[in-house]
Amino acid sequence: MLQDRFILPLTHKGYTTKTHPMNIKNVCCIGAGYVGGPTMAVIAQKCPHIKVTVVDINKSRIDAWNNNDLTQLPVFEPGLDDIIKNTRGKNLFFSTEVDKAIEEAEMIFISVNTPTKTYGKGKGMAADLKYIELCSRQIAKVSKNNKIVVEKSTLPVRTASAIKSILDNTGNDVKFQILSNPEFLAEGTAVKDLLYPDRVLIGGDNSMEGQTAIQALVDIYSNWVPKELILTTNVWSSELSKLTANAFLAQRVSSINAMSEICEKTGAEVSEVARAIGMDSRIGSKFLKASVGFGGSCFQKDILNLVYIAKSYGLDEVANYWEQVVIMNEHQKQRFSDNIVQTLYNTVSGKKITFLGWAFKKDTNDTRESAAIKVADNLLNEQAQIVVYDPKVSEKRIYEDLDDLKTRPAEENRKLLKVTNDSYEACKDSHGIAILTEWEEFTTYNWEKIYKQMQKPAFIFDGRGLLNRKQLESIGFMYYNIGSGTE
Ligand code: NAD
Ligand code: UDX
Repeated sequence: MLQDRFILPLTHKGYTTKTHPMNIKNVCCIGAGYVGGPTMAVIAQKCPHIKVTVVDINKSRIDAWNNNDLTQLPVFEPGLDDIIKNTRGKNLFFSTEVDKAIEEAEMIFISVNTPTKTYGKGKGMAADLKYIELCSRQIAKVSKNNKIVVEKSTLPVRTASAIKSILDNTGNDVKFQILSNPEFLAEGTAVKDLLYPDRVLIGGDNSMEGQTAIQALVDIYSNWVPKELILTTNVWSSELSKLTANAFLAQRVSSINAMSEICEKTGAEVSEVARAIGMDSRIGSKFLKASVGFGGSCFQKDILNLVYIAKSYGLDEVANYWEQVVIMNEHQKQRFSDNIVQTLYNTVSGKKITFLGWAFKKDTNDTRESAAIKVADNLLNEQAQIVVYDPKVSEKRIYEDLDDLKTRPAEENRKLLKVTNDSYEACKDSHGIAILTEWEEFTTYNWEKIYKQMQKPAFIFDGRGLLNRKQLESIGFMYYNIGSGTE
């Protein structure tokens, strides 16, 4: 059985090969972000025989990962603090010494950011691969012995060939094997997703060396993931599968959000429609929750990247098809803020509006592409006075998110929008409360107390379908829920 674990026959494109086992003892991960941190923490926990070093050029991020106070870790994920507590300083290390970590490692994960390009060709659509290229050049420069380089970042299909070209042409005659191992974790459930993944995907070369490299990574995951859940494919399929998975997931959210608008016009109830269609086993019940719009660092970026790839191959119909998912999402955010203005008698100028939640979903401190940012920006354009409460997002982050839009001067953002860590204070004297994130704690609030302290009529705009309409209406609130029609 042990033999089995180390020399697993891989069926790949119809042929089976036996590979020589590689005994990986030292891995490093470049990029200590939302993926690199949690992913490496779980590998360290499940593979105590492997030394795992996570490196980043961002010193304050590394300092935060090394903070003794585990509430100050840069990434909030339920359960992550315990894993860090048990592994950090034993076989898990966070460091800014990138070169040293590269040199020591037999396997290097690249987990740096791949944001949408903000300049030049492909601006606003293509993935910006400059961080990937920098890493590749650094690996090439520093490496003195053969290494396996693993793409953990989400990348456009065929990026591995660019990485290979850099590594092979600028290195010190060292042999590199490139694997694609996209990460499917979702924020807020990262630890659970890493411990019990639906599948692990590994793409590699068909050559003997490629198969050996695949096997080395299979061996790492086999420490806790059942073998039948570890899929091996060619590199291009693996790269493209990641973009495809995110496109399909986002498409479901945009599809149900499109239906939510029809529901509001017709008296149908989107949660009932979702339940009815979700019970069809061919459709399934997940990712059918209507909302103010999907956010997060991945969905929009990855679909736009897919659109760009399709366009660059001249596949305009394919590109237009997927772009519509993003267009629908923009519309959903816009109509949520439009509805707030319209309901509050067509003006929010000078009115206090409360935002409960700023993160793009519950159980994370991540705000990238959060719907709250766009909704706030729209309302600030209407001169609303916004007060934000989020249990995990800092004031600094919220102002940075708004400033990044460059819609108005930073001082104006600070004048029009305030951040508080007292949710009841946030709601006091408010004309309307907008629920932007589905934090559980909002369901436990004393809504009678909140109602008494608000301007009347007191409105709630529930962008997450989180609260109980009957209860709130019996208190006296005017309650608007995404996708609930008036009969
Ligand atoms: P992130 O921005 O949180 O982290 C990336 C880190 O890489 C940053 O801390 C940055 O300082 C560091 N970095 C950049 N260039 C570097 C260099 N040359 N050397 C050392 N460090 C460098 O990003 P993330 O959310 O962890 O995402 C990373 C990748 O994983 C992206 O490609 C993303 O699409 C993908 N992904 C993200 C998620 C998610 O839920 N966030 C899920 C699956 C896949
Ligand atoms: C996503 C993918 O799920 C994950 O597999 C991939 O690795 C990274 O991108 P993430 O963005 O972290 O993960 O969270 P996810 O749970 O997918 O939610 C994305 C957005 O869609 C959130 O804003 C969420 O609130 C929204 N959403 C999700 C809905 O509005 N309705 C749903 O039914 C599901």
